[in-house]
Amino acid sequence: MNIINVKASSGTYQININSSRLDHLHTAIPEDTTSIVIISNNKINNLYGTRAKFALSKTGLPQYEIEIPDGEMHKNLNTVKQIFDYLLQKRVDRKGVLIAMGGGVIGDITGFAASTYLRGIRFIQVPTTLLSQVDSSVGGKTGVNHEMGKNMIGTFYQPISVEIDINVLDTLDFS
Ligand SMILES: NC(=O)c1ccc[n+]([C@@H]2O[C@H](COP(=O)([O-])OP(=O)(O)OC[C@H]3O[C@@H](n4cnc5c(N)ncnc54)[C@H](O)[C@@H]3O)[C@@H](O)[C@H]2O)c1
Repeated sequence: MNIINVKASSGTYQININSSRLDHLHTAIPEDTTSIVIISNNKINNLYGTRAKFALSKTGLPQYEIEIPDGEMHKNLNTVKQIFDYLLQKRVDRKGVLIAMGGGVIGDITGFAASTYLRGIRFIQVPTTLLSQVDSSVGGKTGVNHEMGKNMIGTFYQPISVEIDINVLDTLDFS
């Protein structure tokens, strides 16, 4: 496995890269975690949800999933509210961990939700597009769009790790 250490002002985190990282996601979950919530969309969940959930089930922790609508047009506060509503209904506490499984849209929305829910809970980036693997999952920029502009609302908030499975790029449509 390739490991890159990222130094941020809030601490150091790892980018773990290999060709089967999805099957080892459980190894990224901190010991004191109380619940895990995977955030993705229908397309990504259909492609990779079963593998991710099977790996995470090895932690024995309660596991939830949220599917948000696919597309940049849903990168907004309405979608963030849907995530908050679900997290509150499930009583996810400050030791819950969110998993952003998807492209830059999922990563930006999930990072923003993680940075503001209960004043900040941990999240892991599992980027599944080329852009998100090489750019948006690293650096800690989170956010959503406003009708008056793109990425107008957001935070700087680092993930606890970035888990990159390069084989998920196989299903991208490059046409
Ligand atoms: N935070 C940052 O630093 C940063 C940097 C650059 C871009 N961004 C943001 O990233 C977003 C764009 O991200 P993107 O290009 O990844 O687009 P995206 O997240 O919209 O994903 C593109 C499409 O690919 C699908 N998809 C994702 N992974 C797939 C896979 N493995 N196989 C098949 N389909 C898959 C998605 O469902 C979606 O339909 C923008 O909102 C942009 O603002 C953020």
